[in-house]
This record gives sequence, C-alpha cells and structure tokens, in this order.
Amino acid sequence: MTTPQADAPATGRRHTHARVLAKCEVAPRHFALTLSNSGIARTVRAGQFVHVLPHSRENEEDTGWSFDPLLRRAFSILDAREDEFEILFRVEGRGTRSLARAEVGEWLDLLGPLGNGFSLSQASRSAILVGGGVGVPPMVFTARALSERGVESQMLLGARSAADVLCEDKFTSLQIATDDGSRGHHGRVGDLLESALQEQLPDMVFACGPYPMLRAVAHICAAKNVMCEVSLEENMPCGIGVCNGCVVPMRPSEDILEGDDYGRFRRICVHGPACDARDIDWT
Ligand SMILES: Cc1cc2nc3c(=O)[nH]c(=O)nc-3n(C[C@H](O)[C@H](O)[C@H](O)COP(=O)(O)OP(=O)(O)OC[C@H]3O[C@@H](n4cnc5c(N)ncnc54)[C@H](O)[C@@H]3O)c2cc1C
Ligand code: FES
Repeated sequence: MTTPQADAPATGRRHTHARVLAKCEVAPRHFALTLSNSGIARTVRAGQFVHVLPHSRENEEDTGWSFDPLLRRAFSILDAREDEFEILFRVEGRGTRSLARAEVGEWLDLLGPLGNGFSLSQASRSAILVGGGVGVPPMVFTARALSERGVESQMLLGARSAADVLCEDKFTSLQIATDDGSRGHHGRVGDLLESALQEQLPDMVFACGPYPMLRAVAHICAAKNVMCEVSLEENMPCGIGVCNGCVVPMRPSEDILEGDDYGRFRRICVHGPACDARDIDWT
C-alpha cells in the first residue's frame, strides 16, 4: 500500500462515481464504507475529503434518481489504497441516515478529492495526532502517511464513551480519553495532550474533531509554542467555494487578509479544511 505524495499540489475537484465495495457498522450509528474509485484512491492526501450525494443508486448509468436531499455531505478519507478508499461516518441527520442505507454494489455520486490536506512535511521527526468523535477517521490516514515518511506519531483519541471509540486498532501508539470515564482517561482529550506536551514537544500537532475540542487544542499548543494544524468540520453546503456557507473568522492580520475575497472570513472548503490553528479567531 503506498500513499500519494503528501503536500503535493492539489489535483483539483472531480465529479465522479464510486461503487460501494463493503459496508460495516463499526459502532452504534457509525458506518464505514469501502468505495471503489482509483482516481481518488491514487491521488488523495491525508486530511482531504469527498463531498457525497447522500443516496445510492443501482448502477453508474442510472439517471432516474433523486436529488433529494439536494446538498452533498462532506466526509474525510479514512484511508486509501490502490483503487479503493474508505470513509467512516456517524448517522446525524437526514443525509447520513440516507447514506447508511447504501448497499454493497450500489453507486455513489461524489466530488473529490477536495480540500488541502494536512501539511505533513512540517513534521520531520514526531507528531501528535488528536482526534475526537468523527474527527478520528482522517487521523488513520494521517498516521500511516507520517509513518511512511519516517515520522513517529502518537494518537490521542477522544470519545463520549467506550462504545464511541473509533478505529483504535488502526493506531500503533494510542491513548484514549472518554467523557464518562468508561474507557481510558476520564475527561477530555485535551488533558492527554497537556500531559504529552509536558514530556516531549513534537514538531507538529494535527487535530480534527468538534469545534470546542479544536479550540482547546489550539490554546494548549499556543501556550507551548507548538505548531498545530486543525481540520475544521464546518457545514459545507456546496464544497466548491461558491455559497460562503462554510466561512470561519480568521484573526485580523495583513498576511491572512491578503489575496482573500472575503475579508476576515475564509471559506474552509477551499482554504481548508486544514488550517494553521494560530490563524483562526477562536473567540
Ligand atoms: C471536511 C469535513 C469532513 C467531515 N468528515 C466527516 C467524517 O469523516 N465522518 C463524519 O461522520 N462526519 C464528517 N463530517 C461531518 C458531516 O459532513 C456531517 O455530519 C454531515 O454533513 C451531516 O449530514 P446529515 O444530513 O446527516 O445532517 P443534517 O444536519 O441533516 O445536514 C447537515 C447538512 O445540511 C446542510 N446544512 C446544514 N445547515 C445548513 C445551513 N445553515 N445552511 C446551508 N446548509 C446547511 C449542509 O450541507 C450539511 O452538511 C465532515 C465535515 C466536513 C466539513
Ligand atoms: S461550502 Fe460553499 S463556499 Fe464552502
């Protein structure tokens, strides 16, 4: 299994289709789909995502299918190999409920790979990965890509409870925190990060998860002067930079404002989802 070159220029968005090769309920309300699409699998980088129409159809040519729901949903790539890639999602609302009904052999309509992906080249020796909830899947790909570059990574995984711990078998170095204490550290994953940074400072921290978790991670890293990239999971109605539905406020700075059409706001679907944590206005 080889990873496409991280930090290479983005290949640009593609409208394409992918066949469902496997489906697995990995935890209550959480489904992993293995999808067949060599164009995506061979070019995607850790931290990029696909934008999926949340309903499946029986064959690739079928045009008599519904556009309801109309908007695509964004999912990070969990991992990719040769001609296949995986996504893992939690059933939240209408779109993910519908996607969970996709059957093996059916087809999905998607755009991808989208987004910038993590700046893996910023880590030369070691990195800490922090994932919370459905922010864990992109860390699987990130850990493998870093390992292929000879970078050691340690995964800090946050979940609500033991039942919600995702992908633990995919990480070689792992610590777990649960909100209810049913597994690992009783508390927030940020506590684990603070302890890890007491021991050793990594080149980079890469994080993905709920906004409050990312804000805490950003503050912890800033206090220790450790570089941190966060992957934001804002709602993305269009995914291609035209609706402004995904904008996030940035700290006012000349560098940041330069070249952006939206003043203090960045469209995360095109300028992210991975962002330097110091650039974001977390207030
Ligand atoms: C880059 C990225 C990566 C992600 N990766 C994952 C992942 O790996 N696994 C995972 O489980 N989840 C992931 N998510 C979150 C996932 O996209 C949402 O959970 C999913 O969209 C929920 O869809 P739903 O229909 O079930 O929920 P709903 O709440 O019914 O619908 C959410 C969708 O409705 C639309 N929407 C909601 N509010 C508005 C609004 N105010 N204006 C316009 N449109 C709106 C958006 O298209 C949004 O995606 C990711 C999100 C992003 C942005
Ligand atoms: S999702 Fe429409 S601009 Fe980003």
